Amino acid sequence: MLKGKNIVLCVSGGIAAYKAAGVASSLVKLGARVDVIMTRHACEFVAPLTFRSITKTPVVTDMFAEPMTLEIEHISLAQRADAFVIAPATANVIGKIAGGIADDMLSTTVMATRAPVIIAPAMNTNMYENPIVQENIKKLSSLGYIFIEPDSGRLACGADGKGRLPEPEAIVERVCLEIAREKDLAGLKVLVTAGPTREAIDPVRFISNYSTGKMGYAVARMASLRGAEVTLVSGPTALSAPMGVKLVRVNSAEDMYTAVTDFSREADIIVKTAAVADFRPAAANENKIKKDGSVPEIKLEKTRDILAELGKNKPAGQALVGFCMETEELIASAEKKLKSKNLDIIAANDLNTPNVGFAADTNTVALLFADGSRSYTVSGKKEHVADTILSEALRVWKDKRGEA
Ligand SMILES: Cc1cc2nc3c(=O)[nH]c(=O)nc-3n(C[C@H](O)[C@H](O)[C@H](O)COP(=O)(O)O)c2cc1C
Repeated sequence: MLKGKNIVLCVSGGIAAYKAAGVASSLVKLGARVDVIMTRHACEFVAPLTFRSITKTPVVTDMFAEPMTLEIEHISLAQRADAFVIAPATANVIGKIAGGIADDMLSTTVMATRAPVIIAPAMNTNMYENPIVQENIKKLSSLGYIFIEPDSGRLACGADGKGRLPEPEAIVERVCLEIAREKDLAGLKVLVTAGPTREAIDPVRFISNYSTGKMGYAVARMASLRGAEVTLVSGPTALSAPMGVKLVRVNSAEDMYTAVTDFSREADIIVKTAAVADFRPAAANENKIKKDGSVPEIKLEKTRDILAELGKNKPAGQALVGFCMETEELIASAEKKLKSKNLDIIAANDLNTPNVGFAADTNTVALLFADGSRSYTVSGKKEHVADTILSEALRVWKDKRGEA
């Protein structure tokens, strides 16, 4: 995700400074070169050696120390950076940046950069809610500095409230959102559906399937990283919303139909990965069916075919991508679905292939195109498969506008 990117991680003197080691480590794992600047007070909380060991790069703590290499002199760091991350950011550091003070390596380098600066404040709740701190955050936000809101919970000082540094994963995901990908979907509205649906038998039982939502959430995440405005309509899953994505949670196929119809007309691209139930009980029992009675016979009826409805009402210029999952005659079924449902692309999942489909982190799909483009198979992490599908959907969307 961050291969070839230069990130300057600035650590200031708060109790959460130890968590910055997790941020450094994740950034390095994602392929970034990470330079760490620590304030003098940050060094009271964590030793620079921790960061040097993680990043394999000298840590800058003193503006006037003879730099070990000219590369880490403040102007070079400021110029080379693709992004700055200040985590944790103390009230003091936020105040200094807002006030234009540059009296140490951190504040001076931040002032000298044109790269995006992502600030993760962490402090005692009263400090965070102090009107001066809030005024500084407002001022910096209006100038384009990006703030990550602190979490709420039990703080190191014993108080309960807002002010905790978010987990390193959330901070790193915000960096990815900013710089990981070219924003080739900027200005586009992408609608994604994901997960299973649940069709009620009675108030405690339902019919569903093994979908975990991983494929759809990967599509939503990648679309968001590529700058799209993303709405994710999701059936019940254990996953949390990808950063920057509007998540609409639904339960049944009928709920999903309603939510999808609300957003579909204005979508530029729709990727429908949800495993919507094809059948539901014709009538859900109002009360829990008793075990000691006779075994119930459940009459099923068809649910609404959301993909067919989308295809039927597809606005000119919209790219519609469907998924199909089969255990037999995969390609023949996919070709049929592509035509009968008026799709632009279909991604066909063969359930007989290992590490594919439900619950897996990887997938293999055959991509078939209505415009007669060559069909091919894409394999790998669900994020990679998602990326390929989005690139193809973007190509179709551009073709329809004559922008190819
Ligand atoms: C034990 C301890 C914990 C602290 N935790 C925080 C904190 O979480 N957030 C904060 O803004 N300041 C915190 N401070 C106060 C800062 O360390 C202080 O404002 C310092 O001047 C910050 O310097 P710096 O911004 O240059 O790193 C803490 C101080 C102590 C002694």
